[in-house]
Amino acid sequence: MYRELDALDFPALTDLYAPPVTAAPWLRVNFVSSADGAVEVDGDSQALSGPDDMRVFKILRMRCDVLLVGAGTVRTDGYRPLRLSADRVAWRRDHGLCDHPVMAVVSRGADLKLDAPLFTDAPVRPLVVTGADAPPERLAAAAEVADVISTGTGGVDFADALRLLRSRGLAQVLCEGGPHVFGEITAAGLVDELCLTLSPKLAGAGSGRITAGPPSSLRSMRLAHVLHANGNLLLRYVRPDPG
Ligand SMILES: NC(=O)c1ccc[n+]([C@@H]2O[C@H](COP(=O)([O-])OP(=O)(O)OC[C@H]3O[C@@H](n4cnc5c(N)ncnc54)[C@H](OP(=O)(O)O)[C@@H]3O)[C@@H](O)[C@H]2O)c1
Repeated sequence: MYRELDALDFPALTDLYAPPVTAAPWLRVNFVSSADGAVEVDGDSQALSGPDDMRVFKILRMRCDVLLVGAGTVRTDGYRPLRLSADRVAWRRDHGLCDHPVMAVVSRGADLKLDAPLFTDAPVRPLVVTGADAPPERLAAAAEVADVISTGTGGVDFADALRLLRSRGLAQVLCEGGPHVFGEITAAGLVDELCLTLSPKLAGAGSGRITAGPPSSLRSMRLAHVLHANGNLLLRYVRPDPG
């Protein structure tokens, strides 16, 4: 259960993040936090990450069918097109996957920067996941550069959105947050796995947590493994009853 990250080569680390075989579809969430629980520093999460966190971050991206991310994180963290390196594309081909995962941006208002490279230079046509009551003119604009999934009113119905993703063959979902999206999918009881890097840093007061929004009931998770690297703890929690 406890391993040194440096002792794991690419195949071993990749195997360690295989989803439970009996449990596809699967919703995995990935975050990095400071040791005192901050989700960002000056609005950005990059200061909390580093090469060890990024090793796992890239493997999680490589393994997924779709990367689900909130519009807030896309705006603040400057999301780029989801284009994997050649060795990761080769791994996906060897495992019967298409070359690149699909990027899916979650937005209530669908007020997105549609001329950004994330949309215009994507290797795979992105998705916009939004409520059925988003302004029709914004939905029409989004449909020019992305496939649009509309479900729910006043916000996305995430259970139905996951069902619609599955119907497109997108069963392995990686969610990179942010906190409001994580809060919603936790409240809806949809989270199968949380990968959390605890970074050996103190951010002090002021920053939010990895989750935000209305409170929800307490849920138990099982610790699947702990990796250590240079003071970072890379924790993998899965729901207790996978499959
Ligand atoms: N440490 C980490 O690993 C990590 C990871 C991700 C993000 N972050 C940090 O988190 C901060 C951003 O936080 P955030 O909570 O604003 O990010 P977020 O959850 O990615 O984005 C919030 C936005 O997502 C959309 N959204 C949320 N719930 C929705 C629902 N039910 N239906 C439809 N759309 C919904 C809305 O977009 P619209 O406004 O377009 O309607 C909302 O404004 C940044 O500072 C970032 O650096 C850190």
